[in-house]
Amino acid sequence: MIPVHVAIIMDGNGRWAKKKSLPRTFGHRQGVKTVKKIVKAANSLGIKVLTLYAFSTENWKRPENEIKALMVLLKYFLSKEIDELSREGVKLRILGDLSKFSKDIKIEIDKACKRTCNNTGLELNIALNYGARQEILQAFEEMLKQGIKKPTEATLSSFLYTAGQPDPDLLIRTSGEFRISNFLLWQIAYSEIYIVDKLWPDFTAQDLENAIKNFENRQRRFGGIVLEKQ
Ligand code: IPE
Ligand code: IPE
Ligand code: MG
Repeated sequence: MIPVHVAIIMDGNGRWAKKKSLPRTFGHRQGVKTVKKIVKAANSLGIKVLTLYAFSTENWKRPENEIKALMVLLKYFLSKEIDELSREGVKLRILGDLSKFSKDIKIEIDKACKRTCNNTGLELNIALNYGARQEILQAFEEMLKQGIKKPTEATLSSFLYTAGQPDPDLLIRTSGEFRISNFLLWQIAYSEIYIVDKLWPDFTAQDLENAIKNFENRQRRFGGIVLEKQ
């Protein structure tokens, strides 16, 4: 069975650019092209939810010019690319603390989400200023505000940015790094992990299909055992 929810840590834009002796920002620009390709591929494969890690709460540590370039690309994606994806049925949701973004980015986020909110195709989550620890803390703050003192797992899940969506079945990380980098810590409790050496700008629809094929051969046990057939 194909995964219902695929999450991707899109890593390696900087290394891609470095290999070509280009500034890191060129890697990010190429990375946006890959985003578009992979969103379309995921939609036509019938994946229900695709979560892309685009900017972490820790990425503010980067040089100002790189952050600026990322914001320009983000605005471009939200204002120019979203229409084509919307026509294909993609519904956008942003995961993260948006308070840190400039007013014009917030406006574009709002417009893009509103434009796609009635779509019924792929649910595209883009994680922006996202950190799993921040996400869990804000969930607790909100629960306290609402007087919830003894949350169940389901209650906590319903206060996360991914509320209402199933947990990722498959987590992909590009660029060969074996770490989670503060991504979806709660939701990936039983996700299958697939690490690929390719840098994000080089990642293709075929690579996504390969990851899915690999996933389909996994045996998920969720802590139980698989009983032998008689
Ligand atoms: C991922 O690529 C994109 C973001 C984190 C914004 P990187 O920029 O982390 O690329 P590397 O890891 O330096 O190659
Ligand atoms: C993870 O990549 C964050 C995103 C892909 C947005 P990083 O490049 O920031 O992760 P580390 O620093 O290698 O752990
Ligand atoms: Mg990186």
